[in-house]
Amino acid sequence: MNILVTGCNGQLGTELQKIAASETQHHWVFTDVDTLDICNKAAVETCFDEQQIDACINCAAYTAVDKAEDEPELATLINTFAPKVLAEACLKRDALLIHISTDYVFGGDAKEPYKVDDPINPQSVYGSTKAEGERLVRESGCNYMIVRTAWLYSSVGKNFVKTMLMLGDTKDEINVVADQKGCPTWAHDLAMALVTLLNKNGKNEVHETFHFTNEGQITWYDFATAIMELGGKTCKVNPITTDQYPTKAKRPAYSVLDLSKIKAYAGIEIQGWRESLVKCIEELKRE
Ligand SMILES: NC(=O)c1ccc[n+]([C@@H]2O[C@H](COP(=O)([O-])OP(=O)(O)OC[C@H]3O[C@@H](n4cnc5c(N)ncnc54)[C@H](OP(=O)(O)O)[C@@H]3O)[C@@H](O)[C@H]2O)c1
Repeated sequence: MNILVTGCNGQLGTELQKIAASETQHHWVFTDVDTLDICNKAAVETCFDEQQIDACINCAAYTAVDKAEDEPELATLINTFAPKVLAEACLKRDALLIHISTDYVFGGDAKEPYKVDDPINPQSVYGSTKAEGERLVRESGCNYMIVRTAWLYSSVGKNFVKTMLMLGDTKDEINVVADQKGCPTWAHDLAMALVTLLNKNGKNEVHETFHFTNEGQITWYDFATAIMELGGKTCKVNPITTDQYPTKAKRPAYSVLDLSKIKAYAGIEIQGWRESLVKCIEELKRE
């Protein structure tokens, strides 16, 4: 298959590039905003035609959660309008769209992991624009797999793990919220799961939504403590409440995603968050 990856220089796209480097089954076309702006419908159509795209993995997104509160138009363009452009391009050519979404589509007041079909209730501009993007992909009629993930990190770009390691080098102690619970996800593990989904489905008809994160549920405080420990930092981590750390965008207090559907469908085992964190930190130490 000819596979288009958009937003390929971000965290997830970079992991797909690494996997593709040792994968010979498919022809991969990697693009980012400088080579294919997914908001540009004409450019998307041309790319699909010229490259004869059979599947598109949309890793492009507006991911600055707080900044989105001040830039709702731009966030809407990239997270809502552009997925529709990609979905329409896929529909015309009977191609598959693998579209990535977020735990922030949920309200955060649940007491047990969110199932794929649970009602959404986004609390932020980012969450709303991603939820609308999902809706337009579903309504387009194209073959799609929407994969919601959460708390993504990797050795590239900006993320919580890299921020904590940097603070570990520069601060004696830091405060981290201990009343928001979720699931960290190593971008490498998500990329592997996406390739498994792609290979399993091939060009067959599909209209499914999945959840993928690493196994286990923790707070940002737990996560920060583990990062400091595994990164060999002596910086002390103090637990605080969300009220003590006001942010522009409201975060869900509980955004744990139920993984049973993707495990059964793709036949995969998912690593625990700590095992994957160890591997990512090892990778960062090697760099
Ligand atoms: N990061 C998280 O914690 C998290 C959590 C849950 C879900 N997700 C979802 O997971 C997916 C991957 O996230 P990520 O962390 O890998 O994102 P990322 O690192 O922010 O990468 C996104 C990439 O998309 C590019 N991009 C932005 N606008 C574009 C456009 N108009 N056309 C083409 N490319 C464009 C960005 O370029 P610039 O850098 O130049 O803007 C960047 O290279 C996204 O759908 C995101 O919503 C992420």
